[in-house]
Amino acid sequence: MKYAFPLAAVIALVLIALVGVQIPGMQYFFGIVIPYAAMALFLGGFCLRVIYWARSPVPFKIPTTCGQGFSLDWIKQDKLEAPTNTSQVVARMFLEIFLFRSLWRNTKSTVYDGPKLTYESSKWLWLFGIMFHYSFLVIVIRHMRLFMDPVPFAVSFTETIDSLLQIGAPTMYMTDVTIVLALLFLFGRRLTNPHVRYLSLANDYFPLFLILGVATTGILMRFFLRTDVDINAIKQLAVGLVTFHPTISADIGAIFYAHLFLVCTLLAYFPMSKLMHMGGVFLSPTRNMANDSRMKRHVNPWNPSIKPHSYASYEDEFREDMVEQGIPVEKELPPKTDE
Ligand code: HEM
Repeated sequence: MKYAFPLAAVIALVLIALVGVQIPGMQYFFGIVIPYAAMALFLGGFCLRVIYWARSPVPFKIPTTCGQGFSLDWIKQDKLEAPTNTSQVVARMFLEIFLFRSLWRNTKSTVYDGPKLTYESSKWLWLFGIMFHYSFLVIVIRHMRLFMDPVPFAVSFTETIDSLLQIGAPTMYMTDVTIVLALLFLFGRRLTNPHVRYLSLANDYFPLFLILGVATTGILMRFFLRTDVDINAIKQLAVGLVTFHPTISADIGAIFYAHLFLVCTLLAYFPMSKLMHMGGVFLSPTRNMANDSRMKRHVNPWNPSIKPHSYASYEDEFREDMVEQGIPVEKELPPKTDE
């Protein structure tokens, strides 16, 4: 039941917003104060963590390689699996960030009667992972219409494509369906797979429930409680927030504040959570380093400066003692001159 507390926390957040905005004057608190505070925490926290990671010294060259490294001319190098220069690293990063390439190779281990252990390819996590992330991205891009006046072409075009199926009125967005499906799969996976269930903690469930809460309140607002919200007043507030002249001109409707409060919680929670993999993926030395340790010397930044002491100079220093002890030397002692 490690998911009970995070679930209760998200329900509590919704209730806090729904009840809170009923108190006169609190709409400013939930609509203006909290969003600015959350954004400040998000930007400040995000920057701090990135700076902290960027400043960590990397003592070793540790790129992950799983292919043929650069070698002799007639041995074909696997440029994506063992990149030796920046453009190859960028290509590998690009595929990782946009297509989740390493997750594509996810495997599932099963013990059959025998006992027989097998590792089989498992693409479900990749599929629903990519579905979730792209749906989220498209929803965020579509939301830009609330913050921009006039609405840029790219935003309205995304909206047109997303509602291409023309189902219902207002038209259903495909990404609303895919984000909810993906989140339910990701939660279901943590529940049903015994290994993942054992490893899952409250801070694995909380972001799932929180984002599911954001999506659910958004969907409720658009499709079921449409008459409860004043979309013009929301747009005025959203444009006001980004231009630093926020106003709440009408009674917007409690469900909007619940949606916004969950988004603000997500923003504030982001820098201290595992969601920071969004920034961290760029700073991971196993991903962003080239596999060139045989071409370029990687110097550990905290190495003390060690003066080289060659064998020749060692022998120069100790030659007399070595000869005296009968240890062979490369250079003979100069002949003794009789005085
Ligand atoms: C993490 C960021 C956010 C996510 C994931 C999200 C998600 C959603 C979803 C899934 C919907 C359902 C309809 C649709 O897909 O457009 C929705 C609707 C909506 N969201 Fe958000 N939202 C986010 C941030 C915000 C913010 C910051 C605002 C406030 C300015 C906002 C205001 C609205 C409004 C007004 C609707 C109803 C739109 C309509 O009726 O067409 N959302 N949201």
